Amino acid sequence: MKVLGISGSLRRDSHNTSLLRAAAELLPDGVELELWDGLKAVPPYDEDDDLAEAPAAVADLRKAIAGADAILISTPEYNHSVPGQLKNALDWVSRPLATSPLRNKPVAVVGASMGAFGAVWAQAELRKVLAAIGARVIEGEVAVGHAHERFDEQGRLTGDDLREQLAEVVDGLVTVTRARDLLAA
Ligand SMILES: Cc1cc2nc3c(=O)[nH]c(=O)nc-3n(C[C@H](O)[C@H](O)[C@H](O)COP(=O)(O)O)c2cc1C
Repeated sequence: MKVLGISGSLRRDSHNTSLLRAAAELLPDGVELELWDGLKAVPPYDEDDDLAEAPAAVADLRKAIAGADAILISTPEYNHSVPGQLKNALDWVSRPLATSPLRNKPVAVVGASMGAFGAVWAQAELRKVLAAIGARVIEGEVAVGHAHERFDEQGRLTGDDLREQLAEVVDGLVTVTRARDLLAA
């Protein structure tokens, strides 16, 4: 099983990208996480450019999502909401709605922020956006507050409580994806 990890941050030392790496270490045998790193190349959504031949970065994202069994998104919070670059990429992938690769795709959302609340508002808004696109949004949340204090020098998540929460979300994502695949077989 392949899980595509999408970080909502473009920052080189992003805590959200670190959170995805921490999730990769918690995956059961037979499940791999591939980090998608093309977010910065996705152009601003323009319906005039939304043609049969999509911009390369958009085509790349659509292909990466279609080729994955499940998606794990880690989002920062910008002004209590989803960062524009992440929302923009999802807007591209949402069209046309009927054939969006996110439709019925199991997706889990986690997040990290420097504030105390760990991007809870951004995560809630992201789940709402994903549901509007028709993704199968997995329950469960990991809110890494004070993120600058929650990763060690190697970028590893510190604190058993957070690692346990992350493991629960990852398990939920894998379980739902396996159940869906069994039903489809
Ligand atoms: C434009 C902007 C808005 C932000 N707004 C919030 C916010 O509403 N709540 C919060 O907790 N942190 C906020 N932050 C701080 C981010 O949580 C912090 O930069 C975080 O480390 C970003 O995630 P990253 O490490 O994955 O890049 C904001 C940062 C930026 C650049």
